[in-house]
Amino acid sequence: MPKTNRRPAKCSPLLILHGGAGQIMPQGKKKRIQKKLRSILDAAYERLISSTALEAVTYAVFLLENDPAFNAGTGAALQRDGRSRLSASVMNGSNLLFSGVVNLENFKNPVLIARKLQNESARVLSDKGAALFASRSGFKSRDTRTRAAINDWKKKKKVGCDTVGACALDASGHLAGATSTGGRGMEHIGRVSDSCMPAGNYATAECAVSATGYGEHIMSEALSVRIVQRVADGMHLEQALVKTFIEVKARGGLMGAIAVDKRGRVSTGCTTDSLVFAWRKGCRRKFFR
Ligand code: GLY
Repeated sequence: MPKTNRRPAKCSPLLILHGGAGQIMPQGKKKRIQKKLRSILDAAYERLISSTALEAVTYAVFLLENDPAFNAGTGAALQRDGRSRLSASVMNGSNLLFSGVVNLENFKNPVLIARKLQNESARVLSDKGAALFASRSGFKSRDTRTRAAINDWKKKKKVGCDTVGACALDASGHLAGATSTGGRGMEHIGRVSDSCMPAGNYATAECAVSATGYGEHIMSEALSVRIVQRVADGMHLEQALVKTFIEVKARGGLMGAIAVDKRGRVSTGCTTDSLVFAWRKGCRRKFFR
């Protein structure tokens, strides 16, 4: 038999981001958010072209965390005691490594710390342990609370579920997902979000999914894993989302998800009134309406 030096098939890189599921926005706010998403999408897409799906989703979520318009990183919602506890995870679909941080205080980019944990034997760390790891890894601590977040907390105002996330397919056909959140806002101290669990963020060689919405519902539905598994079992990506969201809607679940598969398909679904998302594949871009 002649030896074949087969290279991995080249794919057209694909990136999708979300900025949470919730209510329909007023027109002015929608335009502002679409503009922000466009610049983050394009910056992270450049990264995707020159690196891997894992690096691109981490970078996209890093940029979303830095924008106080979203409930992640700087300006995220505060918990009942007025403190900000952030959670994030990343998953590399090509080696099935999941890593994350849970209820981390005083570090502005939990997604970077979750990414750093990809190389560790203990890959999910919570509060003090996560903070210790972050400090030892050279991340600087700082208060991530903004004046607006403190004012909302004083008024006991709950945010919508504006968790952020990204999924990507790179030119080598590898998939990855990343998700980050400040939580629901005004929640019980120590409550754990879905965003740092496979229910909220999951990727394999077949499919990557990032979820948003009411964390307890997402966990009960094992949302991201369920969609990925359906695709792995042969279901078309679009069908996997449609079927899953019909099921979770019937149980009153409030959530949304973005997804990409290894064939370069992209899909979104939600049971809420709207899902804030944007995707790009080459020159094609699509934004939520
Ligand atoms: N999906 C974010 C949360 O409920 O914490």
